[in-house]
Amino acid sequence: MSEAQARHSVFDGVSAAARAFVERDHQLFIGGEWVAARGGETLSVYEPASGECMCEVPAGQGGDVDRAVNAAREAFEGGEWSRARPVERERLLLRLADAIEANADELAEIESLDQGKSVGMARNLDLTMAVDFVRYMAGWATKIDGRTVEPSVPYLPDQQFTGWTRKEPVGVVGAIVPWNFPILMAVWKVVPAIATGCTVVLKPAEETPLSALRLAELAASVGLPAGVFNVVTGDGPGAGAALSGHPGIDKVAFTGSTEVGKLIGKAAMDNMTRVSLELGGKSPVIVLDDMDPQAAAAGAAQAIFLNHGQVCTAGSRLYVPNREYDAVVEGLAGIAGGMRLGSGRDPEAQMGPLVSKAQQERVAAYIDSGRQQGARVAAGGGCPDRGFFVEPTILADANHQMRVVREEIFGPVLTVMPYQDLDEVARLANDTPYGLGASIWSNDLARVHRLIPKIRAGTVWVNCHNVLDPALPLGGFKQSGIGRELGREVVDLYTETKTVLMSI
Ligand code: NAI
Ligand code: MG
Repeated sequence: MSEAQARHSVFDGVSAAARAFVERDHQLFIGGEWVAARGGETLSVYEPASGECMCEVPAGQGGDVDRAVNAAREAFEGGEWSRARPVERERLLLRLADAIEANADELAEIESLDQGKSVGMARNLDLTMAVDFVRYMAGWATKIDGRTVEPSVPYLPDQQFTGWTRKEPVGVVGAIVPWNFPILMAVWKVVPAIATGCTVVLKPAEETPLSALRLAELAASVGLPAGVFNVVTGDGPGAGAALSGHPGIDKVAFTGSTEVGKLIGKAAMDNMTRVSLELGGKSPVIVLDDMDPQAAAAGAAQAIFLNHGQVCTAGSRLYVPNREYDAVVEGLAGIAGGMRLGSGRDPEAQMGPLVSKAQQERVAAYIDSGRQQGARVAAGGGCPDRGFFVEPTILADANHQMRVVREEIFGPVLTVMPYQDLDEVARLANDTPYGLGASIWSNDLARVHRLIPKIRAGTVWVNCHNVLDPALPLGGFKQSGIGRELGREVVDLYTETKTVLMSI
């Protein structure tokens, strides 16, 4: 196939609007304007089902990040934004939610072309969540408040004081996001920043930069003042490191690998920049013995295969009671073996490609290491020729010495292990450096309640997995991160507390 034909087939069935956006001459969005990257270098953007290059985006570098941080600083310190009342921030965000919703079909196509996930999932999950989260945060803009305190000041008994606290915006935020849920991750950081009165520079992942650029365009179209929200596309070591280590930002918000999260945390500490990190996971799925094996297999399949396993909370370690073990593995092998792979625009496909060639190779290498360390491949294990696909894979008879059990794979690969009793499974569930999510599958209320406090993880689901809501906090124990996004907790990540003490 010629390059032109391949490019054409990438866009089969895609709307003219989405295609026109993808094929546009992309630029950085800084200070309310589209500008070229100073160095003039670009990054290629690939469509994962075909592996074809769709377009180029600017590879921003340190100088571009400087410019964006300066624009964000200017907008924060003076001008329209610093004078905007909470109700104006609320209304802007409500308009932004309406604009995302009105363009959700096109955004879902862009996300599918860029990331590989199905248009249907992007529309129903990523965009629905994004719109609702923007509205949820719009509500917070007018509800940020402090406390009044009556101080005693024990060593000044003859004087009278009054005291109170104020929540003030933390300042200029650097947001660095990954490629698994591109627009949702962008919204989770940019929108709390806007709601609290901060300004922000967003660096999307190099694999999936497109929806962030469209989001910036929509934000400008609803009247967000220049410089409040800037986007610098580029890679991690270039634009990402320049942003996270920039002395001009007050806070860095990151989602991605634990490895890079540690680098970012260290760079932030040099400038005492506030930092929140949402990092990797190796979340356990714990089936108790009152569960029907088929229902357990169906639940576990959903926990690992959502977004093709590219989910920070993916249920990648399954623990099954000894006597149900064979039946559950068999059920899972049936489900995984029957899944149809296809492009994000193929309505019959049940799973799409991984995001990139690098991620495909990484996941394939993990499957090999699992085989070599003695896991049994009960389903899948291979990679089709075209595109960045990996078959849904079940690695049975795994154990805690294996890399596939200890390390985050971030692909459609489930490890399965038997267990004897509740104490053993609690110990195994916690035998990991991570602590992001976990699920317990049972209707035995007493045992579920006994298990919940024992699990060291930021979220414990019961009879579901990977289910998120704007009002419930999300974040990690241990090496899964620092801080909680979503819920009322997110307001604390984007504000400083100021104490006022007045002698009266
Ligand atoms: P990554 O952590 O390198 O990339 C995430 C973001 O960080 C991207 O925007 C990237 O450009 C940026 N980045 C990379 N290096 C940076 C640096 N030195 N300074 C500042 N920013 C930097 O993740 P990658 O390499 O794409 O994936 C590797 C593994 O990370 C995956 O296999 C998965 O295990 C894990 N991961 C976890 C995610 C999560 O949601 N928890 C999301 C993405 C990856
Ligand atoms: Mg990386």
